[in-house]
Amino acid sequence: MPDTALQDTHGRIIDYMRISVTDRCNFRCVYCMPKEGEPFIPHAEILSYEELLRICRITSQLGISRYKITGGEPLCRKDVVSFIKNLKSLPGVRKVTLTTNGALLGTFADRLAEAGVETVNVSLDSLTQRNFNAITRSAVPVKDILAAMAKAKARGLRIKINVVPLDDFNRDDLAGLARHAVENGYHIRFIELMPVGLGLEYAGTDQSIIRQMAEREFGPLTLIKERMGNGPAICYSVEGSSGSIGFISALSDKFCRTCNRVRLTSSGFLKTCLHHDVGINLRELLRGGVDDAQLEAAIRDAVAQKPMAHNFSRLPGMQKTALMHSIGG
Ligand code: 5AD
Ligand code: SF4
Repeated sequence: MPDTALQDTHGRIIDYMRISVTDRCNFRCVYCMPKEGEPFIPHAEILSYEELLRICRITSQLGISRYKITGGEPLCRKDVVSFIKNLKSLPGVRKVTLTTNGALLGTFADRLAEAGVETVNVSLDSLTQRNFNAITRSAVPVKDILAAMAKAKARGLRIKINVVPLDDFNRDDLAGLARHAVENGYHIRFIELMPVGLGLEYAGTDQSIIRQMAEREFGPLTLIKERMGNGPAICYSVEGSSGSIGFISALSDKFCRTCNRVRLTSSGFLKTCLHHDVGINLRELLRGGVDDAQLEAAIRDAVAQKPMAHNFSRLPGMQKTALMHSIGG
């Protein structure tokens, strides 16, 4: 870690950045995007790859060593793999990972492996085609996504499955998803529904219910003590499997104290907390002609002011406006 490391006023070191490369997506998941879609951000307002690389060159010199490429659906943006390759070749960048809905993963698996991506997070909320269609409002065959994950694994990529458990959509599918992960050596993460954007309109399934389900299926779970991945998941190993079962519980087990991340939206806003509209518009600065030193100072300043914690319960108005596809989860 350089002594120039990015730190906030609460003593947290920021070494991880999520970059949304597009707000567009080929799915319309109920908790993320409205059915009819959204007026998307005009192309001119989306950061170019050159602009993104300039930001990443500076942040990687400040100790951000891990980057997650997200969306919308990142594989929908043209030439994203070349961007990833260039990002991976910056001196301070240790790890680049990707979130995807899996629809295009089969097409890109080889190129992602070759670009040096080590892990992909596949958002998959059901193995039951009917429920999958209802959640994603897409008709992509689930079996194609499963085949794409198998292909990516065969190319050496580590596979994580992100599941958002929803009472009215996939409650009965969670055991099947966990079994599929355990049998295939994937790492499954149950993500507690966050009351943000359209997530406010649905009921998430209690994490304790899922935990009980997992213990019924697989017997007692063993806590994995070392940190896995970039973030706040609490993970368990299952006997006989190289995979794992994890829980990301932003509400029931608030993890803000150890938060290590910032987010860059596709339009260039550096968001220092998922649930506060604080941060800085880097696009304006870049296009206004700042030099590197000014850009670095602006980033440091914004990070220093990162809020201590989210406050889901007290900011309803603000949360409504924050649609996940434009932030990248
Ligand atoms: N709560 C929890 N997770 C969400 N995601 C999108 N919206 C929400 C929400 N309201 C998840 C997606 C994906 C990840 C990037 O964020 O399912 O797995
Ligand atoms: Fe970090 Fe903000 Fe998320 Fe809390 S809500 S974990 S502080 S980004």
